[in-house]
Amino acid sequence: MSVSSIARAFTAALALLCTTIPAHPQALYPQTVKARDDAKLVQPIYQSLPLGSIKPGGWLKDQIETEASGLAGNLFDFYRYVQDSMWIGGHTEYSPLHESAPYWFNGLVPLAFGLDDARLRGQVTAFVDYVLDHQQSDGWIGPETTPESRGLWARCYILLGLMQYAQADPSQADRIVDAMHRYVNLAHSMLQNNFTGLLPKANDSFDGDGFGPARAHEMHIPLQWLYERYPRNNSQVIWETMELMIEGSTVFGVDWRNFWVPGVYPEVTYTPREQPYTWLFNHGVNMAEGLRFPLSIYRMSHDEALRTQTRTALDLLSQWHKSLAGTIIGDEFVTDLNPSRGAELCTSTEMMFSTAYIYQYLGDNDLADWTELTAFNAFPGQLSPDWWSHQYVQQENQPWSRTLNEYPQMWQNVGVRGNVFGLEPNYPCCTVNHPQAYPKFLANSFVITEDGGIAHVLLSPGSVTAKGATILADTTYPFGMDLQYSITTETEFTFYVRIPAWASSSSTATGPSSDVSTQISPTDQGLQAFTVPKGESSVTVNLQAEPRVVTRANNSAAVYYGALLYTLAIDFNESAIQPWSWDGGSVLNSSDTTPQTHDHIIEPTSPWNIAFDPSQIKVVQANASTLPNPIWDYGAPPVELRVAAVEIDWPLKFDTPEDPPSEPLVTGKPFSARFVPFGSAKVHMAHLPVVQLPEVDLDAST
Ligand SMILES: *[C@@H]1O[C@H](CO)[C@@H](O)[C@H](O)[C@H]1NC(C)=O
Ligand SMILES: *[C@@H]1O[C@H](CO)[C@@H](O)[C@H](O)[C@H]1NC(C)=O
Ligand SMILES: *[C@@H]1O[C@H](CO)[C@@H](O)[C@H](O)[C@H]1NC(C)=O
Ligand SMILES: *[C@@H]1O[C@H](CO)[C@@H](O)[C@H](O)[C@H]1NC(C)=O
Ligand SMILES: *[C@@H]1O[C@H](CO)[C@@H](O)[C@H](O)[C@H]1NC(C)=O
Ligand SMILES: *[C@@H]1O[C@H](CO)[C@@H](O)[C@H](O)[C@H]1NC(C)=O
Ligand SMILES: *[C@@H]1O[C@H](CO)[C@@H](O)[C@H](O)[C@H]1NC(C)=O
Repeated sequence: MSVSSIARAFTAALALLCTTIPAHPQALYPQTVKARDDAKLVQPIYQSLPLGSIKPGGWLKDQIETEASGLAGNLFDFYRYVQDSMWIGGHTEYSPLHESAPYWFNGLVPLAFGLDDARLRGQVTAFVDYVLDHQQSDGWIGPETTPESRGLWARCYILLGLMQYAQADPSQADRIVDAMHRYVNLAHSMLQNNFTGLLPKANDSFDGDGFGPARAHEMHIPLQWLYERYPRNNSQVIWETMELMIEGSTVFGVDWRNFWVPGVYPEVTYTPREQPYTWLFNHGVNMAEGLRFPLSIYRMSHDEALRTQTRTALDLLSQWHKSLAGTIIGDEFVTDLNPSRGAELCTSTEMMFSTAYIYQYLGDNDLADWTELTAFNAFPGQLSPDWWSHQYVQQENQPWSRTLNEYPQMWQNVGVRGNVFGLEPNYPCCTVNHPQAYPKFLANSFVITEDGGIAHVLLSPGSVTAKGATILADTTYPFGMDLQYSITTETEFTFYVRIPAWASSSSTATGPSSDVSTQISPTDQGLQAFTVPKGESSVTVNLQAEPRVVTRANNSAAVYYGALLYTLAIDFNESAIQPWSWDGGSVLNSSDTTPQTHDHIIEPTSPWNIAFDPSQIKVVQANASTLPNPIWDYGAPPVELRVAAVEIDWPLKFDTPEDPPSEPLVTGKPFSARFVPFGSAKVHMAHLPVVQLPEVDLDAST
């Protein structure tokens, strides 16, 4: 393939990305929420804990440390869009949104404080110092000095990062809150002036696409925190700023309350893909963020219809566009549930945050399961085991990871190297946005319940100190099914462990006052309660499950066991090359990379083209009290499946396996196939045709 054809593909993608979207005012809802001096925000059912109170343990600690020693923890020192960002006096941005350092900052704050890592704390502190010291005299935060270049959007992530920083280091709260108030006063006056900084006008350069209005509610989390904790006689201005952000979205035609509606929401669309909406709605990452739009208004209006709509939004998404691995299929636009399309890394990252956040308000058990599904499957599957490279798009059926060699190419708004593990295999947003995923998963893993208890809701190894109690969770979950807790507390309290919806009723629990395990009896919200007395005690939960087969269209299916999706194990051959630059033109200069940054070309060396028999599945679990590190590596997880399978004829299209053949043509003899956790298999086939096979000896090694 020629460089010019790569360049053409990228130019086409970029042209689309930069199209200005005409505004379609379509205000169906009353926009104004009553502002009262004493207006209270809706409180979550589960309160999150201050950043830093939860520490990772076991495999999760290993992975977050690997993240810190991989790309995430080194971007500040070498990556041109962070190290030389305009935000800290440099000159290099990948877009006029100037969002790259803000994305990085939003992820690095919870990473630095979650690990309590002095080196990373130094990075974020240096950034905070620079940004606050350079706040402009009119209150503007950031490097832009002309009205045309001043967009509000990137500041949502700066404020989110600052909020987390103030929570983790209260000694800095005053200084941060001062800066936030000065900024809010300015943003309020800009928004009052015909939505300046939010809606791009003729000569504005800050946002050619309308990302700001589509994501206006991202400002709400930090502003609602400011409103509740540090209002400083400025409540009215904070409140109106939030209202104006939403009103701007409505004027621009991206009010998500008009989109998350049955009958309006786009159901499965097949190629050629029609786009009846502004593409801002059909965009996977925007959708992952837009799930929180009704909820952000609900907190202010107390309008139960918006809470209900949040549930409806999740259900619509789940039915039509949720991938097997827990993300949203969209390249970058949502299409159908076919396994070749792929999903962006920013989408799994934002989905993990959105489902964890919404879970705290709705309390529905399936939402925490969804967060775990994304965290243990889609997300790790898109990162190399050493966390030094990532994919832009992950396909559910992806037997190779390399430049795709067919035109017209398979993706609509993704370049031909979209599935390569690299530094910036496509748009650089995922390079700088992915760091937030695991640290925020950690920060939301334990919560305070409405009755003042403590609940372990996103299951993983770690510990928490809160309300005079320290709880240590020792587990290899999701690779093992047992959770052991050691608890020390100054006063009696109720401890809850969330029981995943897939766990069978034969799962057992042992409380602090008994040596006898009993069958679980979770609440309607899926919480198993334990009364923990003052002093030291222990609690155990032993989950039981069987492999689950989830069927999809055209006689196809996928296999899960516990929280993990499984894929056919594919042996592969990997080679590392100097990274390409995201705009496709050339290989990056060594001054823009480090010795650890590579693009990885992965080719299968064993068959990938199989169909399977869902009635013949066996679990193979090794005894592993300690897990290998890195765990998200091929062959590392101690649990695998053996599945009866057979090779079939599976045609290619766009240099990728076609949709699963509904009447597969068998080409081999039945055999016992090895299936491994999806997150550990960088090349994989997870969405497969179903066949009936004669009985296969599943213990026979292949
Ligand atoms: C307000 O902005 C819109 C574009 O968003 C523009 O069409 C309109 O003319 C502006 N109104 C005023 C009074 O400047
Ligand atoms: C936009 O820029 C052009 C060219 O500099 C100028 O003539 C025009 O007045 C500007 N429009 C606005 C609304 O500032
Ligand atoms: C808030 O306003 C009241 C009355 O105007 C004033 O007494 C009080 O000092 C103010 N508080 C702050 C924190 O500015
Ligand atoms: C099912 O098969 C039909 C007909 O071949 C095809 O149009 C459709 O895309 C397939 N759907 C899925 C989800 O594979
Ligand atoms: C593995 O990749 C290398 C480098 O691309 C290539 O030379 C070699 O032939 C490949 N081996 C196999 C077994 O595919
Ligand atoms: C590499 O460096 C040269 C010289 O500074 C520059 O012209 C070129 O654009 C750089 N290439 C990339 C991909 O950044
Ligand atoms: C796993 O450990 C249990 C108990 O320690 C033992 O009974 C069993 O044989 C072990 N299984 C394997 C495969 O080592």
